[in-house]
Amino acid sequence: MVRVGILGTARIARAFFADPLEGVEISAVASRTPERANQFADEFRISKRYGSYDALVADPEIDALYIPLPQHLHHEYVLKSARAGKHVLVEKPAALTVAELKQMLSECRQHRRVFMEAFMYRFMKLHQRAKEIVRTGTIGELRYIDFNFGFNILVRGFSGFRTERANGGGALYDLGIYGLDFIWYMTEGVPQLLQAFTHRAHPDEVDLFTHAVYKAGPAVVTMTCAFNTDANYYILSGEKGSIASPVGISGRKMSNTLRIHLLEGDKKYEEEFPPTNPYKAELEYFARCIEQAEEPFLGGANSLRNMELLEELLKNASVI
Ligand SMILES: NC(=O)c1ccc[n+]([C@@H]2O[C@H](COP(=O)([O-])OP(=O)(O)OC[C@H]3O[C@@H](n4cnc5c(N)ncnc54)[C@H](OP(=O)(O)O)[C@@H]3O)[C@@H](O)[C@H]2O)c1
Repeated sequence: MVRVGILGTARIARAFFADPLEGVEISAVASRTPERANQFADEFRISKRYGSYDALVADPEIDALYIPLPQHLHHEYVLKSARAGKHVLVEKPAALTVAELKQMLSECRQHRRVFMEAFMYRFMKLHQRAKEIVRTGTIGELRYIDFNFGFNILVRGFSGFRTERANGGGALYDLGIYGLDFIWYMTEGVPQLLQAFTHRAHPDEVDLFTHAVYKAGPAVVTMTCAFNTDANYYILSGEKGSIASPVGISGRKMSNTLRIHLLEGDKKYEEEFPPTNPYKAELEYFARCIEQAEEPFLGGANSLRNMELLEELLKNASVI
């Protein structure tokens, strides 16, 4: 049984408690505020609670830490965790720069700790099925991908680190990182940046909207992430057909559907996927990697190629 501690009482950490876990136990939580740690621990029946992150990092009875802290703290706490002998499951984006990430990976390697980035959508059956359809050539060679991930934080009234430049704010870090991961996942080709622009109308100059065009293998890809729209969908178009996810990768709480169109015989049909809990699958997979001393498919190499793309995009995007 892998014993996991959670750093912070993040909203997203609640997702692990929706279903019973197998092979892994959440044994401790830490908050900057002891009352919040107690409240969270009581609500989810977690035995240990700490009023500081460092106290949990130092707990010898904890094997691994889940790090759902604001983006700018991922670097510091992955380093601390690895140095304290803990495996790490860190929320996306794993780091803010390639240099930070390289240091984190080197520290995890040196201490022989598993490093994994929490891309929960990779554990959703819907996207696994889309990938399978692409991989088996059912829709022919991929020619065009349109990926959109929007979460209108302005209308929803979100504030905090997502709109704070110093804390890794902006749509690209929060949502675009999924798009970059998605390009690799679906095309398996090296994405070549053709064009990018970003809209920084926010007072703290975080990007509210970033759009990039890539060439990846034989496909052209458009990737859009936004804090000022709620557009969520993806379309994968091949020479022989197409697949669409009308809720993009944000459909974890809805009934999920893939719309498939095959040109041969002009077949149009839908595949339905009952909602499952990708967070449970993600945490259980992380624990199996620890038990079996296995490199996760969402390990350092995957994070590094995403972060290299993100850094290139940030450097080259025209500000509009
Ligand atoms: N995989 C997914 O589906 C998914 C979805 C949403 C978010 N995320 C990622 O998960 C992480 C957390 O996102 P969230 O929306 O869950 O955030 P959140 O609810 O605001 O939680 C962040 C936690 O970090 C702690 N914290 C430490 N320093 C902080 C600071 N300066 N400002 C705010 N909080 C601070 C707080 O815990 P204490 O006050 O208890 O110390 C807080 O509860 C981010 O990296 C985000 O990108 C992933």
